[in-house]
Amino acid sequence: MTTDTSTRTPLIGAATSRVEGPLKVSGVAQYTSDHHFDGMLVGVPVTATIATGRVRQIDSSVAQAMPGVHTIFTTENIGALYRVSPASGASIDEYRPPLSDDKVTYYGQYVALVVADTFENATAAARAVKVSYDEAQPDVSLELTPDDEPSVDTERGDPEAAFAKGDVTLDAVYTTPPETHNPIELHASVAVFDGTRYTLYETSQAIMNHQAVMVQMLGVKPENVRVVTEYLGSGFGGKLWPWTHSVLAAAAARQLRRPVKIEITRKMMFQTVGHRTNTQQRMRLSATKDGKLTSLQQDYVFHVSRLDKSKENCGEATGYFYSVPNLRATAAFARRDIAPNTSMRGPGAVPGLYALESAMDELAIKLNLDPVQFRLMNEPEIDESLGVPFSTRHYTDCLNHGAKTFGWHERTPEVGSMRRDGMIVGWGVAGASWMAKRLAAESTVSFLGDGRVRIACGTQDIGTGTYTVLAQMVADMTGMDIAAIHVQIGDSALPAGPMSGGSMATGSLVPSVSKSAKAAIDNLLGLASKGEHSPLSGVEKDELAFTGGWVHRKDQPADQGLRFEDLLAKESVAFVSGDGSSEPSSKDEDDDKRSIHSYGAHFVEVTWQPEIARLRVNRVLTVIDAGKIINPRTGRNQIEGAVIMGVGMALFEQTHYDRRNGAPINSNLADYVMTTHADAPTIDVEFLDFPDLALNEIGARGIGEIGLAGFAAAVTAAVYHATGVRVRDLPVKIEDLL
Ligand code: MOS
Repeated sequence: MTTDTSTRTPLIGAATSRVEGPLKVSGVAQYTSDHHFDGMLVGVPVTATIATGRVRQIDSSVAQAMPGVHTIFTTENIGALYRVSPASGASIDEYRPPLSDDKVTYYGQYVALVVADTFENATAAARAVKVSYDEAQPDVSLELTPDDEPSVDTERGDPEAAFAKGDVTLDAVYTTPPETHNPIELHASVAVFDGTRYTLYETSQAIMNHQAVMVQMLGVKPENVRVVTEYLGSGFGGKLWPWTHSVLAAAAARQLRRPVKIEITRKMMFQTVGHRTNTQQRMRLSATKDGKLTSLQQDYVFHVSRLDKSKENCGEATGYFYSVPNLRATAAFARRDIAPNTSMRGPGAVPGLYALESAMDELAIKLNLDPVQFRLMNEPEIDESLGVPFSTRHYTDCLNHGAKTFGWHERTPEVGSMRRDGMIVGWGVAGASWMAKRLAAESTVSFLGDGRVRIACGTQDIGTGTYTVLAQMVADMTGMDIAAIHVQIGDSALPAGPMSGGSMATGSLVPSVSKSAKAAIDNLLGLASKGEHSPLSGVEKDELAFTGGWVHRKDQPADQGLRFEDLLAKESVAFVSGDGSSEPSSKDEDDDKRSIHSYGAHFVEVTWQPEIARLRVNRVLTVIDAGKIINPRTGRNQIEGAVIMGVGMALFEQTHYDRRNGAPINSNLADYVMTTHADAPTIDVEFLDFPDLALNEIGARGIGEIGLAGFAAAVTAAVYHATGVRVRDLPVKIEDLL
C-alpha cells in the first residue's frame, strides 16, 4: 500500500496519539458553540409543558418588552419550512418542521423561539412567554402491547413446532428502559445567512446528510447550504440526524439577516433530540437435552412517537448469531406521547443482544452447561439467516481466548459460591456482535507547496479518532511522516464523506483514501515527467517513483531526485491533487454473498455485599474481533467507553416519564444516573487482529458500538451468579436483589 520500499514502520496498526489532541487540550479547537460572529443573536426555545393537545394562545407581550429581546418567533412569523421527502434518501427522525402547527405531540416540543442579544436575556424572556393549551391526557406508559400486527425481521423453519417439542425450553420477557444520550457537548447550531447562502455550524455526526436535510427544509439549492462540524464532544447517535433546533436557527437567521445561535440546555437534551426507546422482548428458546439449540423466537415491541416511527431493530443480530434451524424475530411498535426516538449506540443490537444473551445464559443454566461451552456448541458454520458464508468470524476465538485470559476455569457455577475479601463474587459472560458495512466515500489527497500533504473529506470526527486514523492512512499510503499530514474534515463543501454512525466511518474511508493517495502520487509523477522546469522532465512517468516526499527515478536512490515541494516551486504549481471515490458495500455485487460482522465476548466480575446492599461491576475483560485495528489506542478508548456505558445500561441509566404530564423527569446529570469514575471497573480490552479483506484492503471493520453490544447481559449473568436473582428488567436495582 505504501509506495515506500524502505523499512519504514507502518503507522496503520500503531497506537498513535490523537493528532488533534493538542488543539483540544489547549482550548484552541473550536466546538460548534464556540463560534461567534458580529451581530450574532441568541435563540432560546419556549418548550411545551404538556405532552399532547393544542396550543390555544401564545402571549408574548411581556416577553417582547424585556431587555435585549429582538424577536419572538411562532408559527405566525417563522417563515416557510418544508418537510423532508421520505424518498429523498436524506435521514431525519422528526419529519414535522418546528412551529409548523398548533399540535403538541410531546413534552418539551418547541412552541416558540425567543431571539435576544444574550443567552441570559433570551432565557428570561422565554420564561415570560405565556402559553395556554388545550391539554389531553398523555399516555407515556412503558408497558407495551403492539399497535399493529408485528412484522417479521427474519424467519426459518417452524419455531413454534420445535419449541413445543423442545427437551429444555425457556420463555421469558426482558425489558430495557428508555435511555437518553448524554454527550458532554450539548447540541448547538450557529446559523449564518448572507441573503442567499447559509453556513450552518452544527453538532452533527453526519454533515453531508445534515446538509441534504437542511436544503429540503429550507427549500433552497444545494449549493446554498454549507454545514460545518469541526469538532464534536461526542454524540452516541443522538447527533446523527438533524433535530428541530437546527432548522429553527437557520430560519431565524433568514428572517433577521443576523447570525443566530441556539445551544440547547441539558434539560432539552432529554426532550427534543431523541432517545433510545424502551423495549420489551419475549424470548422463546428450546434445546435438546445435550445442548443443541432447536428453536429461537424473539418477539419485541418498542415505543415510538405519535408522528414518527424509528425502528429499534432488536432482531439485528438474532438471525445469524447462533446455529438454530427454527427461528423467527418479529418487530412491533406502540405509539406513545413521547418525543421521537432515534439511534443510540448500537441501535437495535444492543437491547436485542441483551435479551438474546440473557436467554442464552438462562438456558445454559437449565441445561446444566457452562455458558461459554453452550455458546461454543451452537456456533454456526454459515450465516443461517442468509445462507451465505461469513467473511471472517472469530466469535469462538473471542470466547476461548477471553475465558483463558479471565481465568474462567476457576469459576464454580453454584450461585453465591465464589467469595473474596468478605464479598460474594459473581462471574458472567455474554457475546457481542455488530454489523460491518461500507458507505460511499469521496476524498481528495493533495501535495501542497509547503511540503504538507492534505487529505480533504466531508466526514467528521465525533471524538473517536477519525482525524488520527485518516492521518495514519495517508502517511502510510504516501510514505510521508505523520507530522506532514494535514487532515481537513468537518465541512460539507469537501468531497462527500461517510457519516460517523454505525461504526462505519473508518472502514468506509479506507478504499477512497487509498485511491485518492494513489491518484495524487500519479499526478505528481506526471508533473515531474512533463513539467518544463522539472529536472526529471522527459523521463517517462512509469520510470519515476515517490518515496518519503522525494520524486526520483526508480533506478536511483530517493535523495538523488527532488522534494515534491521543490518540484511544485520549480513549476509554479500551488498543489497537485488526486481524487478517490469508493462505492458503498450495498453496491458491491459480492455483498449478498457473504455475511460481514464484528464479534466479541465480555467477561464480567461483580462483587455483592448483601450486608450493605452494595453491588459493583469490579472487573471486565472484553475481547473484540473487529478485523484489522488501525489504531489500538483510539480503538481501546472506544471499547473502554462502551464498557463504561454498558455498566450504566446494566445498573443505572433510565429515563423516567411523568405519567401526569409526559415530562422526562430526571432530565439532568444528577438525576439521570450514569457510570462515574467511582463505579468504573478495571477494564481489559483485547483485540484479535484478523483482517477482514471483504470490506476493504486494510481489513478494518470499524469499532465503537460493538463494545456495548451484549455487555449488560454479561452483567446480569454475573449478578445472577452472585445473588441468585435473575433481573430481566434493566437497569438492575438494589431492591431487586434484597
Ligand atoms: Mo451510532 S448510534 O450509529 O452514532
